[in-house]
Amino acid sequence: PNVHYIAHDGNETVLEVEPGNNLMMAAVFEGIREIEGICGGCLSCATCHVYVDAAWADRLPQPSADELRMLDEVAAERRPNSRLSCQIEMREDLAGIVVRMPDHQS
Ligand code: FES
Repeated sequence: PNVHYIAHDGNETVLEVEPGNNLMMAAVFEGIREIEGICGGCLSCATCHVYVDAAWADRLPQPSADELRMLDEVAAERRPNSRLSCQIEMREDLAGIVVRMPDHQS
């Protein structure tokens, strides 16, 4: 299933992400620099911040308490649709999901 990553400048990258893989890992592996993922997905860096497009935000599981705690630490503006992309696990029914990346992660 495809994931649309949209950079702050509007540049869009579409990646095929395997179900079970998370959106941070897929982006870092493909060299999308707007997602840093410094901690490797262990919820200690908040450098994988994304804004999930409104059409998709409600279809994701609610953030865990640990994710909510780390969302307090994001470098860019935190919004209601802010999520940490290492905590978004790809599923078949998320095909086409759109995530927008902030202009800075740290
Ligand atoms: Fe560090 Fe997501 S990669 S919190």
